[in-house]
Amino acid sequence: MSNHEHQDSKHQPIQRKEMSRRQFLSYTLGGTTAFMVGGAVLPMVRFAVDPLLAKGSSTALVKVMEESKVTTEPQEVKFKVSQVDGWYKSETQKVAWISRDESGAIFALSPICKHLGCTVFWNTHGRNEYDCPCHDARYSKDGKNITVANLPLDEYEVQVQDGIVYLGGIIANTRA
Ligand code: FES
Repeated sequence: MSNHEHQDSKHQPIQRKEMSRRQFLSYTLGGTTAFMVGGAVLPMVRFAVDPLLAKGSSTALVKVMEESKVTTEPQEVKFKVSQVDGWYKSETQKVAWISRDESGAIFALSPICKHLGCTVFWNTHGRNEYDCPCHDARYSKDGKNITVANLPLDEYEVQVQDGIVYLGGIIANTRA
């Protein structure tokens, strides 16, 4: 090596690893894309998983009428319940027929016919029975199926507190 070459190599600039323009654009665009995708996907993941992590809730009791107003003649009451159906919360109107039995105990029947789900009504034909307008199913005051339907009407869970009647979830008929 000549003396001149030796001097040239001494004065060469130090090689640094610099980012190329192409790399810079790749990193910037990649980071921005990841940020945007994360922002869009994370709420969806949370939305999908959240109800599974939530504590299960039982059907709340709903105040429907004063105990003193319940008679042996079934009365129709309408009330609203909040429902959580998977990922959706909604308010649904429910109907119950409330009455007392011979011993004075209060019970409430669901009006949903056990044949094909129409709505039954009390005493529409003067027989002191529940009648279904769709295919003439009949039920006794206790909800026992008399014709057409194979099962008795369901009951509501009933609680009486401080002179007020509360209804809860639907249960199988305990009287028929
Ligand atoms: S749905 Fe009530 S009789 Fe058919």
